[in-house]
Amino acid sequence: MQDLIPMSATEQVEIRRLGVSEVRAQLDGLAAVLVDCVAGGASVSYLAPFSHEQARGVFEAVAVEVEQGRRLLLAAFANGDLVGTVQVILALPPNQPHRGEIAKLLVHRSARKRGIAQLLMEQAESEARAAGKTLLVLDTVTGDEAERLYTRLGWTRVGVIPGYALYPDGRPCDTTVFWKAL
Ligand SMILES: CC(C)(COP(=O)(O)OP(=O)(O)OC[C@H]1O[C@@H](n2cnc3c(N)ncnc32)[C@H](O)[C@@H]1OP(=O)(O)O)[C@@H](O)C(=O)NCCC(=O)NCCS
Repeated sequence: MQDLIPMSATEQVEIRRLGVSEVRAQLDGLAAVLVDCVAGGASVSYLAPFSHEQARGVFEAVAVEVEQGRRLLLAAFANGDLVGTVQVILALPPNQPHRGEIAKLLVHRSARKRGIAQLLMEQAESEARAAGKTLLVLDTVTGDEAERLYTRLGWTRVGVIPGYALYPDGRPCDTTVFWKAL
């Protein structure tokens, strides 16, 4: 399934789910987005300094999960360049077959505030539904713009866990947990 959406007179944005061979073919583009987000101070699991090679390793591991059907990976392309990505974790304990988790919603700083994250989330929810999921959960840094995005998209805010994670520079950050029924 794919969307081709003109963001302006000159820009075409395409959101699509990548199969395992395409994840492997796009490792450099995916790694570049992750490195840029960490360099920009996003709390997305990794501490600075964070190299391109480390980021490639992260997506090599994701590719294995995509191959095993345990995870979906979507990517956003603007005029053919990979500028954003999001994952849906499908493999959860046997008593939660209806539940999925959203992870690593990332948009390169050069492509932000053009609605790309919203398109990625809408497509991720649609893919999750198609995979049989009826409930999604996610967590995100408290007070960030991602929180506004999830609220705008109809997600319910559960609450805040203080000091849950660290920013790349080691400072602690709070996390907000959200859920959405599909
Ligand atoms: C959070 C993140 C994914 C948002 O990506 P994005 O593509 O900029 O998101 P959107 O463009 O959909 O929305 C961002 C803002 O741009 C606005 N916007 C969307 N299209 C626009 C347009 N054409 N013109 C002007 N503004 C626009 C949205 O209304 C939104 O405004 P708000 O911040 O006031 O709520 C991005 O900042 C990011 O990658 N951050 C680092 C990683 C991270 O924190 N990920 C989430 C936690 S897992």
